[in-house]
Amino acid sequence: MEKQRTLSILKPDATRRNITGKINAKIETSGLRIIAQKRLHLSLSQAQAFYAVHAERSFFGELCQFMISGPVVVQVLEGDDAIAKYRDIMGATNPANAKEGTIRQEFAESIEANSVHGSDSLENAAREIAFFFSEMEIVS
Ligand code: CMP
Repeated sequence: MEKQRTLSILKPDATRRNITGKINAKIETSGLRIIAQKRLHLSLSQAQAFYAVHAERSFFGELCQFMISGPVVVQVLEGDDAIAKYRDIMGATNPANAKEGTIRQEFAESIEANSVHGSDSLENAAREIAFFFSEMEIVS
């Protein structure tokens, strides 16, 4: 299996409810390692730039407003097949469809306040990691 890195965001609904530790425990239990982590309060322009791929979607405005509604924790996760593995433990985007035991099934409030984000491809992982972290801040 290929060792990969993926970008994770613990969203404002998770920081608001003080459950970032519970989510981190699920990440670490899965075998993924948190090799970089910081807490930020995004500006509107940062949220818009991060989610630029969704700029044409009907939910883009609300998504960006939600992402700036409170602090987030951005992380780099590393491990075998990290991109698919993290998507697996996050569960479906809409918590109503998320499998038992996944982060979103346990913690998400709605499709918007869905607690976590994870990169969806190697290319996007590289772009998203570079958006938030310099190489010096990532310690394997
Ligand atoms: P995320 O993985 O962060 O990527 C884009 C986000 O848009 C997604 O998770 C959802 O939280 C959010 N979103 C809000 N509304 C919708 C929707 N109708 N369909 C898909 N994603 C949505």
